[in-house]
Formats: sequence, C-alpha cells, structure tokens
Amino acid sequence: MTAICEIRDLQNLARARVPRMFYEYADSGSWTESTYRENESDFAKIKLRQRVAVDITERSVKSKMLGQEVSMPVALAPVGLTGMQHADGEIKAARAAENFGVPFTLSTMSICSIEDVAANTSKPFWFQLYVMRDRDFIGRLIDRARDAGCSALMLTLDLQILGQRHKDIRNGLSAPPRLTLGSVMQVLSRPRWCLNMLSTRRHSFGNIVGHAKGVGDLSSLSSWTAEQFDPKLSWDDIEWIRQRWGGKLILKGILDPEDAKMAAKTGADAIIVSNHGGRQLDGARSSISALPEIIETVGNDIEVHFDGGIRSGQDVLKAICLGAKSTYIGRAYIYGLGANGEAGVREALNIIHTELDTTMALCGERLLSNLGRHNLVESAL
Ligand code: GLV
Repeated sequence: MTAICEIRDLQNLARARVPRMFYEYADSGSWTESTYRENESDFAKIKLRQRVAVDITERSVKSKMLGQEVSMPVALAPVGLTGMQHADGEIKAARAAENFGVPFTLSTMSICSIEDVAANTSKPFWFQLYVMRDRDFIGRLIDRARDAGCSALMLTLDLQILGQRHKDIRNGLSAPPRLTLGSVMQVLSRPRWCLNMLSTRRHSFGNIVGHAKGVGDLSSLSSWTAEQFDPKLSWDDIEWIRQRWGGKLILKGILDPEDAKMAAKTGADAIIVSNHGGRQLDGARSSISALPEIIETVGNDIEVHFDGGIRSGQDVLKAICLGAKSTYIGRAYIYGLGANGEAGVREALNIIHTELDTTMALCGERLLSNLGRHNLVESAL
C-alpha cells in the first residue's frame, strides 16, 4: 500500500472505496465547477515568506473558536450524507474530532441523528441548521440540538435553493441508494463499504425521518430541498432563531462585505466566509479571495471563520494570515472517512496539524496569534 502523506492520498483511497454516487457527491461543485476549482487554485497563488535563523522551539498551534479551546483552528464542517461515505460516518467523524480536540459540526442532512451522535460521543458538538417551510419542525430541531447538548448552532444562509450538481443528477444520487442497475453496480463494486453498511441500521436522514410531517420524497436531496427549504428566509428570521436557540450562533455562507455587515448586526457570535464549497453560485469568487475584504469590513466586530478549498495545513495558515480566526475542513476529512472510517478522519486531522505546525515554523513563527499579512508576499496578493 502506498504511504499516506497528504489529503490527496486519502482522496484517492476514498474514490476507490466509496460508491461513485457518494464519492462524487463530495467531490463536486455546481454547474461548471469553476468556483469549486478556484477555491483550491486561489490558495496556490498566495505565497508565503520564508524566514530563517529564528528560534522555533516551543511552538503551538492551539487556538480558540467561540471561546472554546481547540488543538488547532480547524473544525469539521457540516457535510450532508456523511453516513453514506462510511457506515455511521457522523459518529465516526465526531469521535475523531473530539479525540483530536477540534469541533465537529453535524449537518441537518446527516444520516445519524442529533440524538444518536450525542449518545455515541462524550463531548458537545455543533449543529448546522437549514431553515425549512415547516417552522414548527425547525423550532423542534433547534430544541433537539439544545437538549442533546450541542454547544453552537450554525445557521446556513446560502442554500435556500440548491445549485445544480450535474454529477448527482447523472448518478441518480439518493440515500439510501435506489435499486437501479447502475446504483446496484456502483454499490456492489465496493464490497468493504457494503459490509460496513450491512452492519448499521442508519441509512436515511436521521434528523428528519419520523420527525417532519408530510415529508414527500426524502431520498433525493434536490427534491427535498425544492419541496421543503424555505426560500423566504431573511435577516429578520435570525432573531427568532437566535432567541429560540439561546446559545452561541454562527452564520455560514457570507461572501460579500455588505452581507458581512448585516450579519455582524444580528448579534451572532461568528460568521463563516464561505461559498458552500463551490456547490451553490457557480461563478462566485473563491472563498479565500473574498476573505481580506470581509476582514477589513467586520473583522473588529465579529469573529470571522473561513471555509472553502482547504486541503492542507499550508492553506489553513494562509487563511489565518489573511485574518480568519479559524477554519473548517469538509472534503479533506470526508476523504479520510471514506478511505478509512474514524482512523481516516484522524489521519486527515494529523496531516493538517503537522503541515500547519511545520509551515508555521518555516515562516519563522511560533504562535498562530503572531501570524499576519507580514508572513505573505504582498506583491503576490
Ligand atoms: C448540502 O449542504 C450540499 O451542499 O450538498
């Protein structure tokens, strides 16, 4: 077996081990995927300043997110259908995160339910909320997250309508997979995945099945979104959500400085600069290119987090240098999960931790709090 050195190695393994419809659900963007690609390629354009002959002993990449101590400023982002990448995927990822000392965020569109993840972990995790037309259901979902001990609510603002992902349509994506010749072939060609899946009863959207009334075709994310997600969601809704929740609130999906100003006024605790991993507005700017302007606009008013395109510790460091307080990984840990379950997520976190620490040292720094634009080559920005 080839040595696992970087996230791409985990991605290659995941591609070989996870049925195509689920692997490609993660490895895709909307329409032409231009924003998806630029999230990664714009990181490569940022150049770091190498400094030498600086004492780099006693380094630390520890930090805080929303006042919570973290072993590095890298949380696990909410990802729908995580339990289809690997059996019991949300529980496995949450356990890897808690052992590593970073937050795990459970998606509304998860396979394992909030209660199930809480029962199988020992530290509080975060819950990501989509707002649907059925406000009663949403109210109860918020209450369930609180009752399960979730320590932050992450409200996603950029997906009230779904950006089209061609691969999902071509693959007939659904959870659980529909029995068609194509999907049966995809699944049977991944025997390890099948065996693991046979050992769990968690095969559909655990937060929704049995909880939401009058749900039609839930198996398909796109039809569910079109039927249930509330296209009327507005800034005014944030207040009732905040009141009902009563705890730390993060607003996800901010890409424009004007929206950042609105978000900062809501009383939320943090925003996430994000274009939903290039899965929504194709043609939008990359997340990392949007970060500096948003920091300039609201950096002193609210905690600014970042996601989009992070595949290495070098990328994390670049986002921190540009002013993000902390970051999230989605695909980077999903590939680890698909490759090797809980151990694979741990491996992904280890890879990024080591890359972040070593890169910080090679920049001549010992603490994340000392990083800034002075560590970047200004002429290349
Ligand atoms: C849902 O969050 C998706 O991007 O598929």
